[in-house]
Amino acid sequence: MRTIFWENGIRLIDQTKLPEKEEYIHCKKVEELIDAIKRLAIRGAPALEAAGAYGVALACFERDFKSLEEIRNHLIFEAEKIANTRPTAVNLSVGVQRVLKKALNGSSIEEIRKFALEEAEIVAKEDLNRNKKIGKNGAKLLKDGDTVLTHCNAGRLATVDWGTALGVVRSAIEEGKNIKVFACETRPLNQGSRLTCYELMKDGIDVTLITDSAVGIVMRKGLVNKVIVGADRIVRDGVFNKIGTYTLAINAKFHGIPFYVAAPKSTFDLQKRSEEVLIEERCKDELLFCGTKLLAPKETRIYNPAFDFTPINLVSAIITEEEILFYPINF
Ligand code: MRU
Repeated sequence: MRTIFWENGIRLIDQTKLPEKEEYIHCKKVEELIDAIKRLAIRGAPALEAAGAYGVALACFERDFKSLEEIRNHLIFEAEKIANTRPTAVNLSVGVQRVLKKALNGSSIEEIRKFALEEAEIVAKEDLNRNKKIGKNGAKLLKDGDTVLTHCNAGRLATVDWGTALGVVRSAIEEGKNIKVFACETRPLNQGSRLTCYELMKDGIDVTLITDSAVGIVMRKGLVNKVIVGADRIVRDGVFNKIGTYTLAINAKFHGIPFYVAAPKSTFDLQKRSEEVLIEERCKDELLFCGTKLLAPKETRIYNPAFDFTPINLVSAIITEEEILFYPINF
């Protein structure tokens, strides 16, 4: 299952339709891609890196250009728009900037298009390769019989393929270890129940769904013995990831359970500290409604951050494609 690829434009799995339907969206205009990113039809930091990369390529092909200057200006303008669609995951702008830089080296419209598409394909291919390496490195931390708690979706669907946190689980299973997973549902958009359960079950991996608030009892009862999550941005003093990750890390510390983060190097933004990163706040309807059913009085005041920050001293190790960084992590 490949989450995103190029075929006469960008094709991506519409994750808002899962687990009911596996349906692909075909983006032929940058505006369609931006809409897909905003609606979380494509989401997850590494998948957004590929989306950003392909998005710049799409900008080259979405219409005709009369001059080199015109296509260059169009690319710069569209690249900025794509990169700003979601602010927390650094990977989106990493993908955008990488392809933009390459494309602007082109000395004709045709060359710009060629460079952009070639670089976007490399970004996507690299993601799969590095996830396999993350998986292999991380599998060293898992023992036969382990049960891993994960949050949100850091699997195939959050990447081009294989996954980061779930890639570690997949690699350990591939090595012959018996690994089970507990997945937090990840309110309010339920990436855990809709996506993590879907893709693990599709692969025949043993998964148990829990509410986010069951994390304490699950740890206290010893139902899990490792936590592995992904990351949207790793800064000097810690890790940004899906809302609820911080609560998970505190619980893991209290119960003496290792808390691992699996992420590619492109998620590292070590120039920054936590206070410099914008946490995306999403619309109140995500909490107010389940489909068309109202869950709270319409006028309820709502705070809906999509991500939170976990201080680095709560992280037992960060698993990357190059190495495992163990606690205490000092960047
Ligand atoms: O809002 P989302 O679904 O894009 O959030 C995704 C996450 O927080 C993931 O855990 C993170 O991007 C890592 S994915 C390998």
